[in-house]
Amino acid sequence: MKMASSENKTARTLAALGATQPAQVSALFLEVRTRFDSDSLSARDESSWKQFRDAWLGRKSGVLTQITDNWLKPATADLKRIVGAALNELRAHVESQIEERFKAIEEGADEAASARERVDLSLPGVVRAIGSHHLIRQVFQQIEDIFFSIGFSIVEGPEIETPYYNFEALNIPEFHPVRDDMDTFYLDLPKGAPQPLLLRTHTSPMQIRTMEKRQPPVRVIVPGKVYRRDNPDATHSFIFHQVEGLAVDHDITFCDFTGTIEYFVTQFFGPSVKTRFRPSYFPFTEPSVEFDVSCIFCGGSGSAAGGGTCSKCKGSGWIELFGAGMVDPAVYGFVKYDAKKVSGFAFGMGIDRLAMLKYGIDDIQVFFQNDVRFLRQFP
Ligand code: FA5
Repeated sequence: MKMASSENKTARTLAALGATQPAQVSALFLEVRTRFDSDSLSARDESSWKQFRDAWLGRKSGVLTQITDNWLKPATADLKRIVGAALNELRAHVESQIEERFKAIEEGADEAASARERVDLSLPGVVRAIGSHHLIRQVFQQIEDIFFSIGFSIVEGPEIETPYYNFEALNIPEFHPVRDDMDTFYLDLPKGAPQPLLLRTHTSPMQIRTMEKRQPPVRVIVPGKVYRRDNPDATHSFIFHQVEGLAVDHDITFCDFTGTIEYFVTQFFGPSVKTRFRPSYFPFTEPSVEFDVSCIFCGGSGSAAGGGTCSKCKGSGWIELFGAGMVDPAVYGFVKYDAKKVSGFAFGMGIDRLAMLKYGIDDIQVFFQNDVRFLRQFP
């Protein structure tokens, strides 16, 4: 007769299996235990371990339940004690082995995870490039340091301005022709807005805002962005940078003004540069000047190194730097200063052009293109 497999045997009673002697019962239990030991090898990870556990300890149809139901319960009184003892021994073995197996799987998983997460210190590191200040920011800093050293402080103001601060309070009434030079961008405002708003065309509005808030002595510089509807070319951009300067006190003279400007220029460009003032016109300064420096490209000779005229100063030997002047008494009227008691000077420098001159850059557009090949040249 073909022997039933041990798997089938636990589904049948001892009587059906023909086991009536204790030795036969022991042989059956040995067979089951051998099957358990070989099954336990298939539990290699958590999910196969769960299947294995349920197959042996599952309450409804696990092997131990089957033995209880099919072998123990219907056993004859003679065999019941032997079956019970053998079943207890098997249960102890099964439970302890199943637990052991779980520990082994867990340890294996831990080892695999730590192998995955191990840091390899011999791998090359990730080098992160360190950024630097944009050249315009560097030039702002240089200018600020020079003016700090002679007692000026910094104020900053809004880039969105009212026509009053940008024009009227600077003595530029609505139809003054000088507004044409400073045509700018107006904001689209909802209907019924109390007044138009514009992007400031220069930093000069901060002259007014500062004098409205402070009484003399005033000594400030105002770095910032400004906007004009200028077509872009090598020396024009529709967004550029200025530093405004304002000094007002009870006894400021034209000599203080020229001395301050010359001090700044020699500190900024070096002692060999020559300076000159030319008469000019701004509605908010009187007298007004344009300030020139001797051409730093040709040393003021007007001639190019290889012969011919210097292309930068067009042969004149001078380069225009910025506008300035003594504050027009009419401006004091807008800020309620007594024009008979105070005097002062103001200037407004184009920072982009100053940077171009100092660093020999021939196109203003490079400041706005964010090309790292350019930026890296000024670490
Ligand atoms: C003014 O803006 C006056 N607010 C300066 C001033 C201040 C005069 C205080 C007197 C007292 P102006 O329009 O000339 O002036 O501009 C000043 C500087 O800004 C110029 O010298 C130039 O360097 C720079 N600049 C003007 N337009 C542009 C532009 N489109 N792109 C780049 N730089 C410009």
